[in-house]
Amino acid sequence: MRVPMIAGNWKMNTTVNEATALVNEMRPGLDEIDKVDKVICPPFISLAAVKELIKGSSIQLGAQNIYFKEKGAYTGEISPLMLADLCEFVIIGHSERRQYFNETGEIVNKKVRAALRVGLKPILCIGERLEENETGKTEEVVTKQLRSSLAGIKYPSDLVIAYEPVWAIGTGKAATGEQANETIGLIRRNIAKLYDKEIAENLRILYGGSVTTENIAEFVEQPEIGGALVGGASLKAAEFLSIVKQTSEIRVVREAQEA
Ligand code: 13P
Repeated sequence: MRVPMIAGNWKMNTTVNEATALVNEMRPGLDEIDKVDKVICPPFISLAAVKELIKGSSIQLGAQNIYFKEKGAYTGEISPLMLADLCEFVIIGHSERRQYFNETGEIVNKKVRAALRVGLKPILCIGERLEENETGKTEEVVTKQLRSSLAGIKYPSDLVIAYEPVWAIGTGKAATGEQANETIGLIRRNIAKLYDKEIAENLRILYGGSVTTENIAEFVEQPEIGGALVGGASLKAAEFLSIVKQTSEIRVVREAQEA
């Protein structure tokens, strides 16, 4: 049985002081919840401070981006080696980076390789835009993104995939549980083709896009959905805690059913 994951993508929000305050508010409650992998992804500048604050807890840390070169004259970039010391996960290929920073499939592929080289676990984001969804191109787009992101990569056992339809991100217009489950099932079948069935079965594929305390259950109750990548709602301690708690409770029920 896959352990569900709830990851909070704070995006470009919080100063170091605000990040510290938010972690202090979340930590006690979050640490108590089991049966779920809990990951928070603050901005780069807060990673070191947050790492200290979550020491000894069950909360894990992720970054939101990475550069693929190891070091050198790349002003303003953050290398895999710098991150490897600080965190366990790194979000790669988020649609905001594809859209605003021109990240292509080739760049995403280089970043996934760079992360794996230093032992960072990639949270690889894929998802279709509104017009692609409306013209029935979801399957084609998601398959293409998946294949280009993983091209030539021997199966990375530490991979997590996040299916984030672009039209659902920050819009308050989430996909339905069934929609997300269907596309995530398709992604899993593609992974089975690229690698093998067992690998596909074990892979966690998260849903992301306007996840809230109100709709989280609808997603994590679905058999294909392995958790959520949460944006806005991860910036409010009580909401994020509730999302993680509901996920844990659903997991407990499922364990009992399958026992
Ligand atoms: P929202 O939850 O704010 O829609 O953001 C989703 C997201 O992009 C997470 O990476």
